[in-house]
Amino acid sequence: MKVHTRFLLSALDERHFPAASSPEIAFLGRSNVGKSSLINSLAGVKIAKTSNTPGRTQAINFFEVRWPGHPKPDLLFVDLPGYGYARVPREITNRWQGFVDPYLTNRSTLALCLCLVDANVPPQKSDAQLIEFLQHVDRPLLVVATKADKVGSRLQSALEKLRQGLGADKILPFSSKSGMGRDELWKLIRMAVERSDEESGGPEAPRAAG
Ligand code: GTP
Ligand code: MG
Repeated sequence: MKVHTRFLLSALDERHFPAASSPEIAFLGRSNVGKSSLINSLAGVKIAKTSNTPGRTQAINFFEVRWPGHPKPDLLFVDLPGYGYARVPREITNRWQGFVDPYLTNRSTLALCLCLVDANVPPQKSDAQLIEFLQHVDRPLLVVATKADKVGSRLQSALEKLRQGLGADKILPFSSKSGMGRDELWKLIRMAVERSDEESGGPEAPRAAG
């Protein structure tokens, strides 16, 4: 299905977040893991900036997503700055704690956290910590293993190692290069949006501030 996507705004602190209305899908992961590329792959167009330089995305970027024929946004994609990369200046990683933690903890419309990990890299402590934090604050999450096109025949064993090392129920392999996992991920996103709409009393219902 072709969705309509539009860049909404870039926020450097909580005061600049858009009013909480549509369900939000957050894209989280270490710098360079492929968050922006994954958003572009789902959107089918290049809306999020990608880069070879880790730390490219430094603000929280909100994108509106509409199903065809719908006048209002059905959901928002939220591209968050990467964490845990040694070459990203400390000033930026400190900022992460200042506004990303409050977003993850308080945002009333956050429907699903996609935790991206590189399928080619063994389980990382920073990823396990993020997953543990999200489980602790009771956020729905799905672990997505990116760059799966580069792993080759070892994919299944790499996924199983990640699943165990990160304490995840399930890991979805994905590639923004080949399109692997794209349909399955869209299905899981739609389910999370429907669940969130039901909990809030429907897509038009007002939501608690957050
Ligand atoms: P920050 O914004 O710095 O946190 O990075 P990011 O997580 O948004 O990563 P981004 O999408 O910018 O991608 C980083 C690099 O990985 C780019 O060079 C991409 O081309 C590459 N990349 C992303 N996804 C894939 C993939 O599925 N397969 C392969 N082979 N490369 C990928
Ligand atoms: Mg990015």
